[in-house]
Amino acid sequence: MIIKESSEQASELVAHWIGKAIEQNPSAVLGLATGKTPLRVYEKLVQRHEAGELNFKKVKSFNLDEYVGIGPEHPNSYAHYMRSHLFAKTNFKEENTFIPDGLTQDIVKECRSYEKKIAKEGPIDLQLLGIGRDGHIGFNEPGSSLRSRTRLKTLTKETREDNAVHFSESSRIPIHVMTMGLGTIMEAKQIILMAFGKDKAQAVSLCVEGPVSAFVPASILQFHNNVKIVIDKEASSLLKNREYYEWVYAQKPDWQMP
Ligand code: F6R
Repeated sequence: MIIKESSEQASELVAHWIGKAIEQNPSAVLGLATGKTPLRVYEKLVQRHEAGELNFKKVKSFNLDEYVGIGPEHPNSYAHYMRSHLFAKTNFKEENTFIPDGLTQDIVKECRSYEKKIAKEGPIDLQLLGIGRDGHIGFNEPGSSLRSRTRLKTLTKETREDNAVHFSESSRIPIHVMTMGLGTIMEAKQIILMAFGKDKAQAVSLCVEGPVSAFVPASILQFHNNVKIVIDKEASSLLKNREYYEWVYAQKPDWQMP
């Protein structure tokens, strides 16, 4: 648990770790998220690439999810998001970036083939996650099987409302998505979950301090042996053990520091 003063500081640290993973392994396989939360991280990675410090030529990426019914050219698709915030601004090779095809005519086949691609290119070395107010990761909404694989999911009303800001007409927000499952996410070697703002405080506290339950899908991360949860002060406000987490981080031996 790493609680930073601000989302800016937290994003700096996460970008540093991603950079380090790529320096250590130029062919690293990243699992990437969309949404508001990782935006600053992507900006920082782009800056480091422009400064000649980061090379994405051999890096591969798998995105967590995509809306069903909209294609990669649609401004609200996650394929478009990734291109405009990261891929087109760096030297990622298009053939190394993977995301489910929102326009597929056969969703079951597309999800199976996505799993196969992850199995072939993976395992994912570093998986980046945001968290929904309802505790979802990817779009594994409450009730998702803790062992689920990439499949079709139906967004909750709350998630659709949260995502409405990105769509010009709220009625147009897709209802369905394809998302990596919780079982898929759990196979990543390392996971970094980020959460910023007081709206995420309850989800963070249930994820970290609540019981593991399909009702709070992010709580499955308690079973993973290499997870970092990087949050700002506001998102930490409901943690019972907050002081302890801060104390642990302050006492970290040098060799454990970023
Ligand atoms: C996005 C994703 C979602 C988001 C979550 C938080 O690819 O998988 O789980 O990470 O909905 O979204 P923001 O960051 O917009 O609050």
